[in-house]
Amino acid sequence: MSDFVVSARKYRPQTFDTVVGQKSITATLKNAIKNDHLAQAFLFCGSRGVGKTSTARILAKTINCSNLTENFEACNQCESCESFNSGASLNVYELDAASNNSVEDIRNLIDQVRVGPQLGNYKVYIIDEVHMLSTSAFNAFLKTLEEPPKHAIFILATTEKHKIIPTILSRCQIFDFNRIKVKDIAEHLGEIAKKEGIDAESEALHVIAQKADGALRDALSIFDQIVTFSGNTITYQNVIDNLNILDYDYYFRIVDYALKEDIPGSMLLLNDIIEHGFDPHNFIVGLADHFRNLLVCKDVRTAGLLEVGESTQERYVAQSKELDGSFIVRALGVLSQADVEYKASKNQRLLVEMALMQLCSIKAEQEKKNA
Ligand SMILES: Nc1ncnc2c1ncn2[C@@H]1O[C@H](COP(=O)(O)OP(=O)(O)O)[C@@H](O)[C@H]1O
Ligand SMILES: [Mg+2]
Ligand SMILES: [Zn+2]
Repeated sequence: MSDFVVSARKYRPQTFDTVVGQKSITATLKNAIKNDHLAQAFLFCGSRGVGKTSTARILAKTINCSNLTENFEACNQCESCESFNSGASLNVYELDAASNNSVEDIRNLIDQVRVGPQLGNYKVYIIDEVHMLSTSAFNAFLKTLEEPPKHAIFILATTEKHKIIPTILSRCQIFDFNRIKVKDIAEHLGEIAKKEGIDAESEALHVIAQKADGALRDALSIFDQIVTFSGNTITYQNVIDNLNILDYDYYFRIVDYALKEDIPGSMLLLNDIIEHGFDPHNFIVGLADHFRNLLVCKDVRTAGLLEVGESTQERYVAQSKELDGSFIVRALGVLSQADVEYKASKNQRLLVEMALMQLCSIKAEQEKKNA
C-alpha cells in the first residue's frame, strides 16, 4: 500500500471543464481568457473542499500555457504546463495565510511580486484563508493589490467572506463557489470508482455524497475510508454500517406503520433502532427529512429537490402516493415539535414514542374531521 495516494489528491481537476459543479465560474474565467480581459485580483469564496484552490491552479496554468486548446484550456503538454503539472512551476506561489499571517510573510511575497516570470506571461499568487492575515499584514498588502505589476495576478481564497474588509472586496472580482449537489458528487464518485476498478452501488455513492454535505473533498475522503474497509466492492449496506447511518428502510417502515395506525409495530421498530445504537434524536430529525422528501416528490415541480439514488427515488414516489399532503404536513408538525422539546425532556424515549403514537393517530384524526 506504499504507493497509495488519497483520492482527493489523485483526482484534483486539471482543466476548467473537469471542475465539478462550478460551471458559471469556470465559464466566466474561460471567457475572460478568450477576450483577454482578465482581472488582476480575484476573491474565491466558499466552504472547504469545493474547488477554490484547484480552480486557482488551473487558472494559473491556463494563462501561462503557450499552446491553449480551441476550448481555452491548458494543453497539458507544453513546457509551462508540464512544470505546473509536476508542481515545479515558479509562476505560481501559494501562501497559506492561516499559518503565515505576519507582516514578514507578506513582505516576502511583495518582494517576489516585483520579479517578472521567466517562462510564460504571468505569475499567480494564491493566498489561501486570506481573512487570517493580521491587520498590519493586510495593510502592507493593500498597495500591491492596488497597483500590481502587469505580470502579477492575485487569487485570494476564503471560507469566511464576511471577514474580508471592504477595501479588499472592492479591489477584487468576487466568485462565490457553490456547495456541490449530491447528484453531482455521486456521479463524480462513480467515475472515480470506475477508474479505480471498484464496483460501487449507486445507492451507496449517494449516501456518501449526502454525508459529505456539499464538499467534494470530504466525499473523496469518505470514499477512501469505505474502500479501505470493504475493498473493491462498495454496497449500500457497507456504507451505512461504516458511517453508522440509519437505513432508509426504517423510515419507510415507520411511515407504513403510521398509515396502518399500528402503534405497537412502530414502538418495536423504535426499540430496534435504539438497540442498534442509534440516537433517538437523530432518528426524529431523519424521519422529518423523510417526510420532507415525501412532500417534494408529490409535485413534479419540486421532485428535483429529492437528493437520493434512483432506486430509493422510486420508493419515495411510491410511498408519497399513499399519503396526502395534509397528512405529511401534520406529521412534520409533530416531528418538529418533538425535535424542539427533545433536549429539555426528562424522558426522551417516551417523547419519541409519543411522537410515533401521534403519527399513528393522524389518519383517525383526519377522518374524524372529515366526517
Ligand atoms: N469542484 C470540484 N471538482 C472536482 N474536484 C473537486 C472539486 N472540489 C474539490 N475537489 C476535490 O477535492 C480536493 C480539494 O479541493 P480544493 O480545490 O483544494 O478545495 P478548496 O480549495 O475549495 O478547499 C481536490 O483535489 C479534488 O480532488
Ligand atoms: Mg483550498
Ligand atoms: Zn500548455
